[in-house]
Amino acid sequence: MSFKRRWPIAILSCYTAYGQADRPPAAVVAGIPVNYDEARVGTYTLPDPLVLANGKPVRDAKTWTEKRRPEIVQLFEENQYGRVPGRSLGMRFDVFEKDTSAFDGKAIRRQVAVYFSADKSGPKMDLLVYVPAVATKPVPLLLNLSFSANSNTVNDAGVKDGEVWGPDKKKLPASKSRAFGKIDVVRLLDAGFGFATIYYGDIDPDFAGGLPYGVRALFLKPGQAQPAENEWGAIAAWAWGLSRALDYLETDKAVDAKRVAILGVSRLGKTVLWAGAHDTRFAAVIASCSGEGGAALSRRNYGETIAHLTAPARFPYQFCANYGKFAEHVDQFPVDAHMLLALLAPRPVLLQTGDKDLWSDPKGEFLAAVAAGPVYRLVGKQGLDTEQMPPAGTPILHDIGYYMHAGGHGTIPSDWDQFLKFLQMHLQRPS
Ligand code: GCU
Repeated sequence: MSFKRRWPIAILSCYTAYGQADRPPAAVVAGIPVNYDEARVGTYTLPDPLVLANGKPVRDAKTWTEKRRPEIVQLFEENQYGRVPGRSLGMRFDVFEKDTSAFDGKAIRRQVAVYFSADKSGPKMDLLVYVPAVATKPVPLLLNLSFSANSNTVNDAGVKDGEVWGPDKKKLPASKSRAFGKIDVVRLLDAGFGFATIYYGDIDPDFAGGLPYGVRALFLKPGQAQPAENEWGAIAAWAWGLSRALDYLETDKAVDAKRVAILGVSRLGKTVLWAGAHDTRFAAVIASCSGEGGAALSRRNYGETIAHLTAPARFPYQFCANYGKFAEHVDQFPVDAHMLLALLAPRPVLLQTGDKDLWSDPKGEFLAAVAAGPVYRLVGKQGLDTEQMPPAGTPILHDIGYYMHAGGHGTIPSDWDQFLKFLQMHLQRPS
């Protein structure tokens, strides 16, 4: 498999089974050897999420929430994803389609243009929202961050044809781009959930040099050419876009904005983890194959490492510039993935991985989930409660959930059984 491609492998794999896992993993990526040998993972000590910067232990939920949690958020901002601005004062929601019946009367569809600033020629994103037509009360909702335009994410001819970034870094109509697997919205509606989706490229492009075309450019200070070393990369920008989508959902009376879960695959799995960590309004997170820079422990030298991720020809633009400084010094990284998961407490988080997706280090994700357990327990919630990694096909659906499918990178249709169960367990109210 080639790891040189700039375009997400999850694009090929989202929501469908695929064959890439059958090929042997690359031994060297961006000139850096890749370790797939458990015996050569190395030894490491994880930073303790329950010790304050001043060395004092965190013994109660209040100290966690008021003191330690903000310290860790700041460490991730400074060292991995970058700081972000708030919403701009000029932001506008244009509900260009209000209440259209969709999916044979099962859904009410709305389409909203979210203008990120008062300048309507600047970047904007299209938000597609469905709520069950039969709902009499505000519904919980799954907000999806997609590699595809809305019109290619669902099977509904009524959705406005979006635009996507093509391989030549120019926008093209979504109808002319490749379509991938679609999300089964009706299944969610039947279970009483609403569904919304946005296209990540509407927020910020996913290529080096994309800065001028996305939201980050809107917030550069006069004379500033690049975000500072501790300012947002593309992942923080996509996460910021999810928060702006939630700003809209808070205004939609059909939606219970206190029960909005977020879903993303691969680099967008990294994104939903950070979005949930940074914006506590999100009620739950489902991260599929988020891997390095997401839920996989960076200190474990297995599969992708910070060095691979931030190599100049790969994805440094997705993170703040400071992150690359830890490529050769992961022992000095002040945080690790277990602390990212801990930031989600007490809210539910489900990690979905694949047993053949070695590049993303499914075991590293499991170990991060185990190490986030003490924080969940401190706030009265249930971690994985085991240090034994379950085999493929065996879900653990506690407040921290872990599910490894048999197969490779991305989400396959059967993962949705677990997603739905997890959402129902945590976000549905008894009727
Ligand atoms: C590459 C990258 C991963 C990323 C993935 C994706 O494989 O190395 O970190 O998760 O692309 O987004 O598909």
